[in-house]
Amino acid sequence: MIGVRRPSRNGPRSHPIFARVYPRIGHAAERRGVAEHRRSLLDALAGRVIEVGAGNGLNFPHYPSSVTEVIAVEPEPRLHELARRAAASAPVPVTVADGAAEALPFEDGEFDAAVASLVLCSVHDQPGALAEIARVLRPGGELRYYEHVLSHRPLAARVQRALDATFYPPLAGGCHSARATGDAIRAVGFQIDREERIAFKPSPMLPTIPHILGCAIRS
Ligand SMILES: C[S@@+](CC[C@H](N)C(=O)[O-])C[C@H]1O[C@@H](n2cnc3c(N)ncnc32)[C@H](O)[C@@H]1O
Repeated sequence: MIGVRRPSRNGPRSHPIFARVYPRIGHAAERRGVAEHRRSLLDALAGRVIEVGAGNGLNFPHYPSSVTEVIAVEPEPRLHELARRAAASAPVPVTVADGAAEALPFEDGEFDAAVASLVLCSVHDQPGALAEIARVLRPGGELRYYEHVLSHRPLAARVQRALDATFYPPLAGGCHSARATGDAIRAVGFQIDREERIAFKPSPMLPTIPHILGCAIRS
């Protein structure tokens, strides 16, 4: 069922402080609207699914019964363990696997669909991760994505770039606020089926941050 588990191409991915803080922030953000976005993200998804960077498994409750199996890759040890626990009560079969998006330990075309939520901001090599996701999807397979992205407003974008160049990524488990992830998905050859841009405030402490919620098809 799970292919050979190769070690991560980019070394260990332990972020002990982020891994303790994220589940708390994540649960609060669920109540502020993220849970609704997750439901839209996974709506009517079907077949065998790979979820990349599953964190503590906040997507798991939202998988519809048309999904036959989820393989959830999570490299951070503490979040991996939390995801394993969350998998036990998921409404569909979920197996949590080790690995990294840049070197997925699976065969070409194994999956009907892939899910990336709030993770393409954090991967070390975004084009490499997207190419790997495309590789493990069958032709015609879907990439469902939900990501915060670079603002279209020049001042906000400048602040995002300054954050990314300084303290933000080490503090936030490798997250970058200024990635144009929709463009990156197009650049690796996915065809966009739909993409919605959402002005969203995930926490009262944070400014409004643009998010994209979409579905792209592997040609
Ligand atoms: C902000 S959390 C999001 C977790 C989850 N996807 C969600 O929607 O709540 C980012 C996640 O990406 C994972 N991650 C970071 N780099 C990764 C990589 N190269 N491959 C796979 N996952 C990665 C982190 O360990 C973390 O669990």
